Amino acid sequence: MDFKHHFSHHKPVLLKESIKNLITDKNGIYVDATFGGGGHSYAILKKLNKGATLIALDQDKESIKRNFIKDKRFHLFHNNFIHIRDILNKNRIEKVSGILADLGISSLQIDNPTRGFSNQFNCILDMRMNQESSYSAQNVLNECSKKELFHIFHEYGEFKNAKKIAEKILKKRFKKNITTTLDLISLFIIKGSFKKRKRFLARLFQSIRIKVNNEINIFKNLLLESSKMILPGGRIAVISYHSIEDRIAKYFFKKGILINKMNFEILPFRMIHKKVIKPTLKEIINNPRSRSARLRIAEKVNKK
Ligand SMILES: C[S@@+](CC[C@H](N)C(=O)[O-])C[C@H]1O[C@@H](n2cnc3c(N)ncnc32)[C@H](O)[C@@H]1O
Repeated sequence: MDFKHHFSHHKPVLLKESIKNLITDKNGIYVDATFGGGGHSYAILKKLNKGATLIALDQDKESIKRNFIKDKRFHLFHNNFIHIRDILNKNRIEKVSGILADLGISSLQIDNPTRGFSNQFNCILDMRMNQESSYSAQNVLNECSKKELFHIFHEYGEFKNAKKIAEKILKKRFKKNITTTLDLISLFIIKGSFKKRKRFLARLFQSIRIKVNNEINIFKNLLLESSKMILPGGRIAVISYHSIEDRIAKYFFKKGILINKMNFEILPFRMIHKKVIKPTLKEIINNPRSRSARLRIAEKVNKK
């Protein structure tokens, strides 16, 4: 199998750093919650012994179709990781040695001109990771209330002018539904540099995508489930691409806080690195999409 050929579409990010720290038992059961192009799964399998197991999930059927890994130890499911416990239980697994979550979208998704994830192509506003879902970016832009839109742009896009952005959308859709990426982009005239415009659009698209796929709530659920499913001494590795998710992971691992309150009597995890792990300059040059990646690894400490 030509490893490089398969990853020409999605280069796995922080690969060595995440795998090296994730595996504590070479015979254990592991979960790759976000299979994508399979880069991390492939590397995990390379490190594991014969008797080990790797369960991988992705909610995008394109990612599943492109799977190239044929290995008896490997089991891939087309599903959302919100159902992780059900999937494991159905496979008679109660506890695992480690979970990896490489959040967000893959290059396979963003570079597809029909999926609506990128502001570089004019197409229908879709942004669903799961093609079977009935809720797309069109629903967000044409149906969410002003308050909901404000929340999306304020919380997920971290825009100071979230109210103004929401108002522009409401004004436009009053006349005609917003259906394409161009409809959306043409609402905004961003003064200033090319870089500023690029950043604005990236954040705008990202915030809508987070809402479409309910990414924050589902990620919080994964953290909570992980605290129940990982064996003491086992680990969780989270790679995030924006500060909201990184902050959630950090507070959860350090303080056990998920939704403004301490969720546990005893902290379930301890961080194995004091500082967040970032890609090296070499990795960023080789793969510019890795630049915003942040890796946090935590170890399960208590038995509950
Ligand atoms: C950044 S990519 C993962 C790339 C992968 N680690 C690799 O090296 O090729 C994220 C993937 O996770 C999937 N994903 C995101 N959220 C998910 C969820 N809640 N459930 C299942 N899959 C999800 C996306 O569809 C996407 O394919």
